[in-house]
Amino acid sequence: MDIAFLLNGNVTRIPGDQATRPLLDFLRDENHLTGTKEGCNEGDCGACTVILTDADGGRAVNACILLMGQVHGKAIRTVEGLRGPDGDLHPVQDAMIRHHGSQCGFCTPGFVMSMAAAHSNGATDFDTQLAGNLCRCTGYAPIIRAAEDAATMPIPAWMSEDLGALPSAGISTDDVAIPDCIDELADWYAAHPDATLIAGATDVGLWITKHLRTLGPVAFLHRVQGLDLLDFEGDEITIGAGVTVSRLREEIADLSPALAEMLRRYGSTQVRNSATIGGNLANGSPIGDGAPALIALGADIHLRHGAARRSMPLETFFIDYGKQDRVPGEFVEKITVPRAGFDRLRCYKLSKRFDQDISAVCGCFVITVADGVVAEARIAFGGMAGTPKRAKAVEAALIGQPWTEATVQTAIEAFDTDFTPMSDMRASAEYRQSAARNMLMRYVLEDQGAAVNVLEVTP
Ligand SMILES: Cc1cc2nc3c(=O)[nH]c(=O)nc-3n(C[C@H](O)[C@H](O)[C@H](O)COP(=O)(O)OP(=O)(O)OC[C@H]3O[C@@H](n4cnc5c(N)ncnc54)[C@H](O)[C@@H]3O)c2cc1C
Ligand code: FES
Ligand code: FES
Repeated sequence: MDIAFLLNGNVTRIPGDQATRPLLDFLRDENHLTGTKEGCNEGDCGACTVILTDADGGRAVNACILLMGQVHGKAIRTVEGLRGPDGDLHPVQDAMIRHHGSQCGFCTPGFVMSMAAAHSNGATDFDTQLAGNLCRCTGYAPIIRAAEDAATMPIPAWMSEDLGALPSAGISTDDVAIPDCIDELADWYAAHPDATLIAGATDVGLWITKHLRTLGPVAFLHRVQGLDLLDFEGDEITIGAGVTVSRLREEIADLSPALAEMLRRYGSTQVRNSATIGGNLANGSPIGDGAPALIALGADIHLRHGAARRSMPLETFFIDYGKQDRVPGEFVEKITVPRAGFDRLRCYKLSKRFDQDISAVCGCFVITVADGVVAEARIAFGGMAGTPKRAKAVEAALIGQPWTEATVQTAIEAFDTDFTPMSDMRASAEYRQSAARNMLMRYVLEDQGAAVNVLEVTP
């Protein structure tokens, strides 16, 4: 069974057994579309940025960690396809020339693809849109000026994609499944419990490009209807496992500006456009950014194996480092989150770089105060233990106490009971302990109206 997609407007087919091949290899090695560059080969530099379009629209993604199975039924546009059929430059290309946005040129195709995606979507937060593209010689000011200039120009007609030309069905063989609905996924995965699930591939892609692993049977989740559910009705919010970080960030912004702001610092635009919430939890990472926020909010995780479903508080899903409460053939279907905590949620992500960096420590807090006294406290951290973990001793030290700096000053001693963090390349154990304490102090100060955002605070 073939994987079929549009490549610069043309229907393209490759055998299904190439499903785990990175798109970047396919573009460069087989199609000589060498405008798409290979820099880091791990999603960090944006040199390989292409535009992926499906029914939800077009978005910038990193081709180095996008696997061929993920493009089935979608359209890919590379820098070679950015010009119009008559040779007219795309407005961002034209603006890059006029504003001297390129020197050696290595990063330039990646930049113009990110800029073209932003242009098509009407996005003008260019620092954020381009945070996943690195340039080492031009400097960013001319590039940002070019993006601003191009934003005033209309979207060229040739940027629309005709997805109707593609087959509508998924793929199902013993080695590769690209299912269309949850029941189909559940049946296939129960029958192939040793298979690898691939959602956004922002982790799995690196197993291939960096660990040089050959995956056995694989199931791709991007087409599974129902896994993309995002429901804000009622007292409980439902987030399907296949919801991307970009979509969650965008759609949750009104309900929780704090969560949306934290998600802005999750990877880059390209990474967020691919990465899913389900993948972020299922990978069990102790430094993933999704888990601390969702644990602080009191979320449940819902798992499915064949026809059987079960759920549990998210914090109990993480058993130990690298060990989650999930059996072979079982997948994450959705997460449900009580609406009540969102307005009190605050998330503080600490990483060496502001943009595009994994957390050294990520602290998330929901502290409810009644008549000046702490009524409820849920505090969860990433980067402080082998799993995302609640600070239960600190919570206990806060509950029933006045919500003041003095209370926090006493309660933060309990961090020593809750956590024995480790030292690694991101931070020392002492730094992590100190950062966790400071984050709780930051929460109480923020509640008192102090400016605590690193972009707002000035010396
Ligand atoms: C450059 C870069 C920057 C990053 N920055 C951040 C960051 O700032 N914060 C952060 O938290 N993470 C970050 N990550 C890590 C990664 O983006 C996240 O962990 C991401 O959410 C994984 O989701 P995915 O859909 O890409 O998962 P995949 O790579 O597709 O899968 C990850 C794991 O989850 C499994 N899986 C996926 N979906 C399911 C499911 N529904 N049920 C069961 N198992 C499933 C897969 O089999 C695999 O084991 C970064 C990664 C890169 C490459
Ligand atoms: S080559 Fe660096 S992000 Fe793909
Ligand atoms: S122009 Fe040389 S790396 Fe950007």
